[in-house]
Amino acid sequence: MLSGGAGTRLRPITHTSAKQLVPVANKPVLFYGLEAIRDAGITEVGIIVGDTRAEIEAAVGDGSALGIKATYIPQEAPLGLAHCVLIARDFLGDDDFVMYLGDNFIIGGITDLVDEFKRGGADAQILLTKVENPQQFGIAELDDVGRVVRLVEKPKEPKSDLALVGVYMFAPTIHEAVGEIKPSGRGELEITDAIQWLIDNGKDVRPHFVTGYWKDTGRLEDMLECNRKVLESVEPSCRGTIDEVSRIIGRVVIEEGARVERSTVRGPAIIGRGTTIVDSYVGPFTSIYHDCRIEHTEVEHSIVLESTTIVGVSRIEDSLIGKEVEVSPSTAMPRAHRLMLGDHSKVSLA
Ligand code: G1P
Repeated sequence: MLSGGAGTRLRPITHTSAKQLVPVANKPVLFYGLEAIRDAGITEVGIIVGDTRAEIEAAVGDGSALGIKATYIPQEAPLGLAHCVLIARDFLGDDDFVMYLGDNFIIGGITDLVDEFKRGGADAQILLTKVENPQQFGIAELDDVGRVVRLVEKPKEPKSDLALVGVYMFAPTIHEAVGEIKPSGRGELEITDAIQWLIDNGKDVRPHFVTGYWKDTGRLEDMLECNRKVLESVEPSCRGTIDEVSRIIGRVVIEEGARVERSTVRGPAIIGRGTTIVDSYVGPFTSIYHDCRIEHTEVEHSIVLESTTIVGVSRIEDSLIGKEVEVSPSTAMPRAHRLMLGDHSKVSLA
């Protein structure tokens, strides 16, 4: 499980936390991947960590809460996906393995894919899906009978629109490949090049087409989209308290100890553990994480991280708000916006 990287496109959230820990429907993106791996019957998980090692370790621990045994493998610098395989050599031994990019979000799990790979005896199984922006991914070119002939990392002039999804299955032959390749133009050992080496050396690389939902969650829009997808199918439940005058409409999850007072929550939405919603409107596709306070506020199509307080704002949309943020009305004269924003923050005022 690859869980390093700087997450520059999610700044300022990623100045203080790992991009893989941004919650989707109140669960870190990374946990969906770890659960998919566990559900496929794989319980020994090596997690490649970089600068955000401490946060990842604090969230995952020894993995027992997720039903896995986690081993942390530090990567000194982001030297590429194939470099991750290189430094995990001792951990992997001569086993077949799954490589999963911790910021990739797949609905439907990987159990079938792992089973297919176990049966097949291939050297590698790659997942492909059609994308509209092939310049931003590793791209596969297939021949007339559907065999993979060429893989190109972020081509300027793509010859196909089939992107490599960030879940790969390998037999131990990949170790020879990662040992042979040289760093790419961006100075990284690319897994794409290692797989190309397998193809060029007559090894069996099998494509599998992903038809379900997949997203590389690098940007705010992607996070909001994943959040939408997951919320659309949550089971409504209430483990908190709702007063008589509040209205809960549609798919809404109220987690333990959350309180809703004189408010409307229109699902799909999730209200986190210990959060209070008072005199407010929480609209569709919104996830409010743990221990937040939302008062006299309208918020919709947004993700709010833990221990944040928002008072007197109408209205917030399409937003990702970090941990322990305070947003409140200003009573001081002259009337003005008074801001203390972290580096790389983005604010758009109505
Ligand atoms: C990586 C891979 C790329 C793949 C993508 C999927 O890109 O190099 O081939 O299509 O993940 O998320 P990166 O996220 O490192 O830019």
